[in-house]
Amino acid sequence: MASSIAVASGKGGVGKTNIAVNLSLTLSRMGKKVTLLDADFGMANAHILLGVNPQNYISDAISGSVPLADTVCPGPLGMNFLSGGSGLLDMLNLDKKTRYETIRLMDNLEPKPDVLVADVPAGASDNSIAFVAAADRVVVVLVGEPTSFLDAYSLIKAANLEAGVQNFSIVVNMVTGKGQAQAHFAKFQNIVYRFLDVKLELAGYLPLSNRIRKSIVERRPISLGDKNLPENLALQSLSKAVMDATPNQSNGIRYFSKTPNMVGA
Ligand SMILES: Nc1ncnc2c1ncn2[C@@H]1O[C@H](COP(=O)(O)OP(=O)(O)OP(=O)(O)O)[C@@H](O)[C@H]1O
Ligand SMILES: [Mg+2]
Repeated sequence: MASSIAVASGKGGVGKTNIAVNLSLTLSRMGKKVTLLDADFGMANAHILLGVNPQNYISDAISGSVPLADTVCPGPLGMNFLSGGSGLLDMLNLDKKTRYETIRLMDNLEPKPDVLVADVPAGASDNSIAFVAAADRVVVVLVGEPTSFLDAYSLIKAANLEAGVQNFSIVVNMVTGKGQAQAHFAKFQNIVYRFLDVKLELAGYLPLSNRIRKSIVERRPISLGDKNLPENLALQSLSKAVMDATPNQSNGIRYFSKTPNMVGA
């Protein structure tokens, strides 16, 4: 059955899109059929990092002006990509019905992916929470700064209290290595567990890396490079951990499940 992963963060600019793109490609390399949905409507830029130039946007399929199949843009390694568009400021704050339609549209993807990865807007807006709650597994990207911790805490609190999301896979970005990621994670987990009844696990980390910065500038994702680069070993490890994480059973609108209940959308 198709599974889904939301990549979210509290604070913006912490590396979500880079992780969503490289997670998608790493899973593709592992033999999964992956579709990446750029759900950061209004600020969509995953196509830039992925190095593709989509002709149509998911909004075209939502409005019915273009068939869904024509909005699917082929990406590297056989993955598929659904663009959130560019300059779609009218889609910045989707209403409940449009969010519902977007999530339900994924049921009609042909061929059905093994894994849908969604790049979710930063923050704890209704949009972010709806796209987080729709996924089986939720990745929250952190960096080691108090503002990132505080905003990630707010996102997790909202996803848990408003939509019943229980399990979160944490990825710590821009660290020196595993030790620093574990230290940041321990600090963050300590804060969260004091106030919320959720389960966090450290899925992995990405190093602060000039190679990653360069890959973004050059529009050639790092995971298309040498498998043995430290960045790519970290991506392989975190991708496996995310796939192995306990899926959420939250109520409401979920990808690939035709529940009519609209709670949390
Ligand atoms: N591991 C890393 N090493 C070095 N630079 C990084 C790393 N991850 C991200 N960056 C830098 O951070 C910038 C922002 O990354 P990205 O666009 O993935 O963040 P985001 O969380 O998706 O942002 P937004 O909230 O605006 O969507 C990148 O352009 C890149 O320069
Ligand atoms: Mg982004």
